[in-house]
Amino acid sequence: MARTCLAVVLAAGDATRMKSSKSKVLHMVGNLPLIAHVTRAAASAGVSKVGLVVGRDANRVIEAAGSGIDVPVTSVEQTERKGTGHAVLMARDIIAEGFDDIAVLYGDAPLINPESLLAATAERARGADVVVLGFRAADPTGYGRLIERNGELIAIREHKEASDDELAIDFCNGGVITFSGRQAVSLLEAIGNDNAKGEYYLTDIVEIARSRGLKCVAIEASEQDMLGCNTRAELAEIEAVWQKRARHAAMLSGVSMIDPSSVFLSFDTELGPDVMIEPNVWFGPGVRVGAGAVIHAFSHLEGADVGPGAMIGPFARLRPGTELAEKAKVGNFCETKKAKVGAGAKINHLSYIGDAVIGEGANIGAGTITCNYDGQNKHLTEIGAGAFIGSNSSLVAPIRIGDGAYVGSGSVITKDVPDDALAIARARQETKPDRAARLREKIAAIKALTKMQRS
Ligand code: UD1
Ligand code: CA
Repeated sequence: MARTCLAVVLAAGDATRMKSSKSKVLHMVGNLPLIAHVTRAAASAGVSKVGLVVGRDANRVIEAAGSGIDVPVTSVEQTERKGTGHAVLMARDIIAEGFDDIAVLYGDAPLINPESLLAATAERARGADVVVLGFRAADPTGYGRLIERNGELIAIREHKEASDDELAIDFCNGGVITFSGRQAVSLLEAIGNDNAKGEYYLTDIVEIARSRGLKCVAIEASEQDMLGCNTRAELAEIEAVWQKRARHAAMLSGVSMIDPSSVFLSFDTELGPDVMIEPNVWFGPGVRVGAGAVIHAFSHLEGADVGPGAMIGPFARLRPGTELAEKAKVGNFCETKKAKVGAGAKINHLSYIGDAVIGEGANIGAGTITCNYDGQNKHLTEIGAGAFIGSNSSLVAPIRIGDGAYVGSGSVITKDVPDDALAIARARQETKPDRAARLREKIAAIKALTKMQRS
């Protein structure tokens, strides 16, 4: 029978070093809150429930924690920060529901790998009572040290409590500790606060378990997987690791990137095979790109669905609600928002297309603007299949340009244009023969006269 596991996720820390007006775990990596990375990892490791220990910004933290997962999340509040051991005990009632395993995770360590969680529960299944995920630290300063003897973990010593010999150990507590659900409450209640910080250290659970004849082991995970976020500088480091992994996965799935390090992805970016991404492209949340599409340099996409074979940019901005069908084109210095663009339609240069539906094969000339906003409401512009909008036209919505219609360049269109009609709405051209030459002579004469008067 499958084991049941409760993930107790600690997210109540004050996080003063972030110097932030919001809870640390609401800060983003890959445009997803830290806490959501952690609960999603727990969910993909197959936990049965998440017990969330919250403090500041509780409602928003709870919402973020539950987003995108099927696993139920129950939250408890820790009103005073008395240490990690105290924080876990806040979930006492949830623990009492009865689980084979309790896995403690930190809400500020978003790179945790579901494989490591599974490795820990596998150790539990093999008979260990307490399993600690450790890592070899390049610089162990500040971490709890894992003290082992004969293949077993005998203690975790917090940096502030460690002897010189113990400080020399580079095997550190990553923060993820898994133990028996049956023994949990009794072990946690035995934790005291007689230490350098006067806190209830969860890490004391190892010595307490050993004193009861229980078996503790440490298993090694990568240092990167265990990275926690205490400052904004560390947040940026975590982002860098996350981005590198996301790009790598995209490239392995058939996406080309000329300069991966300059491409920014979001947690939900979906890129099809043979997509080509040029340097300096930003994918905000909610972007899907179909096979073979090309995203040229310096483009900014968010909430956009880009069809197969489409061409974007360089310097294009696709805002939420942009839906481009197959082989559509949005070229340089164009902005789209809530725009449905038909197959093969082209918006090539310097346009704003917002609240619009554009038919197949339409051609939107340079500098076309959909005037979608009257200062109070947004209105729709419809452009039919195969329509041709001349350059520098303003389409004042609500408006409909029919299939196959033409709009003359420089027009300000305020009335619907029927199918196959030609609409021109601009001042009529007047041409005056020789007037330019005469004007030139007049200007030259005036200039000569002023020069004479000055001398
Ligand atoms: C902790 C470990 C240390 C380990 C390190 C790894 C303890 C005593 N020490 O130290 O062995 O090497 O993590 O990063 O466990 N939190 C609460 N409520 C509290 C206290 C903490 O929710 O009362 C949360 C924090 O928000 C944070 C996590 O628990 O997400 C860890 O707490 P933190 O104070 O950062 O522990 P460290 O001193 O880093
Ligand atoms: Ca920490």
